[in-house]
Formats: sequence, C-alpha cells, structure tokens
Amino acid sequence: MGRLKNCCRRRGRTAVQAELENVRRQALEEISSTANLQDLERLRQKFVGRKGVAADYIKMVSLLPAGERPSAGRKANELKKELIEKLRFRETEIKKAAECREKIPLDFTLPGVKHPAGKLHPITQTISAIEKIFGELGFKPVLGPEIETEYYNFEALNIHSDHPARDDQDSFYLDDKTLLRTQTSPVQIRIMEECKPPVRIIASGKCYRRDATDASHSSQFHQVEGLLVDKNVSFSDLKGVLKFFIQRMFGVQIRMRLRPDFFPFTEPSADVSISCPICGGDGCSSCGWKGWLEILGAGMVDPEVFKNVGYDPELYSGFAFGIGVERIAMLKHGINDIRIFLENDIRFLKQF
Ligand code: PHE
Repeated sequence: MGRLKNCCRRRGRTAVQAELENVRRQALEEISSTANLQDLERLRQKFVGRKGVAADYIKMVSLLPAGERPSAGRKANELKKELIEKLRFRETEIKKAAECREKIPLDFTLPGVKHPAGKLHPITQTISAIEKIFGELGFKPVLGPEIETEYYNFEALNIHSDHPARDDQDSFYLDDKTLLRTQTSPVQIRIMEECKPPVRIIASGKCYRRDATDASHSSQFHQVEGLLVDKNVSFSDLKGVLKFFIQRMFGVQIRMRLRPDFFPFTEPSADVSISCPICGGDGCSSCGWKGWLEILGAGMVDPEVFKNVGYDPELYSGFAFGIGVERIAMLKHGINDIRIFLENDIRFLKQF
C-alpha cells in the first residue's frame, strides 16, 4: 500500500498501471493455487474485500492528476471485476473437486495410472538395426534429400533420359527437373562429390515410385544405401559384407544367393536373395514356393559414376548396395502386407 501511494505521488499513471499489473498477476496466481475454501475466503478479503487491495487502488486514483483519473479509475474497477470473477470460478472448481473426492473415495492401494510409452515405428526400428550392423563394419550413417534433381537421381548414376530404367522407376515429378527420389542411390553421388576416398557410408530414407499399391508394393517405401570406395576393393569384399549383414540380421543358418542383374550405376551387378527364413529354403507360400527371397540390389560402382564425381576409376574401386527396408521388416516379423506400415493402426504398432 505504501508502495502504491508513492507510485501515485512520484511517478504518476504509468507507474500505477505497472504496479496494478503486478498485483493482478500475483492475485491470479494465488487464487489458482488455492485448494480450499477457507484460503479462498482469505484471498477474497485480501484482494476484493472492503479494505482489500482493489479498494485501495480505487482510493489511490484520487491522488493522480485530474486528467489521469478516469482511465486509471476504469483500470482499477476492471481489475476488481476480474478478480471477483476469478474467485467465483475457483470456488466452483474447488467444490466440484471435493464432490468428486466424496463420490470416489481415495484408495491408496490401487496401482497408479500407467501412461503408455511411445515407441519407434517398426520401419525406424529396422533402419536402426541395419545401421547398427553396418556400423560394426565402420559404415557411417548419412542422409540425403527426398526431393532430388534429375541429375542426382538419374543422370549422375548413368541413367540417361532414354534409358529404360527410367520407366522401371516411374517417378513423381514436382517440376521439369525435380522429383521425389526413386531410390537412395543419389546420396552416393552427393557424398562422393563432397568427400575424397576412402568412403564408407550408409544412407537410409524414404523413396517414392508411381507403383500401383498392393500387398508388396507401395508408392512410398524405404531403402538403405551402402557405399564403400577405396583402393583395391573387390566383388568378394562386397559378398563378405553382405553375408555378414544377412547373418547378423536373420541368423547364421541363412544362406545368401547372388544372381547377375543390371543397374546402370554398377558393373557387374547382382540381385541378392536369402534362403527363406520361414521354410528354411524348402518352399512355402511366403517365398512363393521358391525357397529364396530377394532383399537387395548391389554391384561394383561403375567407372562412369566415378568419372561423374571426379574420382579416378584407375585408382579407386568400390561397391554399392540398396536394401529394401520394408522387405527386411516384413521377413523379420512375418508381415505379409506392406500397406500396414503406413496405416498407423495402433493395434499393429503396439506390437513392436
Ligand atoms: N538403387 C537400386 C534400386 O533401387 C538398388 C541398388 C543400389 C543397386 C546400389 C545397386 C547398387 O533398385
């Protein structure tokens, strides 16, 4: 109160208003944190009672110069009204809480309320598992953009505009030259442009193709790209690395099969299958009675690609691979429909 009087005398309206705002904030805070009706009554006296803070303010207004009184008076009255309102509201809250307590007596022996913990999506978990395995071999995780230029997604990877591989990877174009990446292979180019060999990276992320959606195709899916470049890297290094990965992921009993394939950015290229983890290779409905399941594409980096990024193909060699993440997750967990990963059905997600 003394502070208030001084304010009015010495510093005029602005100071009074600042002080008023302080009192307001403090009063609202005290009212909201009161938990019983006696304390609330005490606050009512303190703030809006006959000798309360609001009443003091209203009196103090008369000490201000005449021109400033109306607006200061209005502010003080508004404060009083607001506090009365707030006190009434808090009173109802406190009464309601008491009623609830009476209806449901507290039983301290009941177990506490468990809040369900969030979890990582199974695809994210699979990517982490893949990265961990390659991490043991010294592959560093990197990321690249999902929106790519034609140059990185195709040209630099030796997939020229008249190449039939462009049809295999029917794309979502955003404009003439930019598209949603159809594969993680463009990250190879971005990394090689930036770093001198030796390179040993793993790049995971979303890819997009204009595939008709069915149980095994989705227009949005994930890949993990691997790239290793150094002197004297051979195809048997690639085989060794992939075998290590497959056996870590699915178990030592799993066999690996490489068959010649074609990718414009690797030569020679292979498609890599594993013996079906469900039937052990005898043939079942999961592997289409073949005993084998294709899980990735791989090969030795084509010298043309090295030239595009300024590496000397006479000096360096390397291998690359692209793993279908959904495929791995489906095999690992016995899931037979790729669409379920995108449905966000909590009953499915809860199981991981
Ligand atoms: N990018 C290829 C695809 O999406 C996979 C691949 C990656 C093949 C790296 C060879 C080397 O089909």
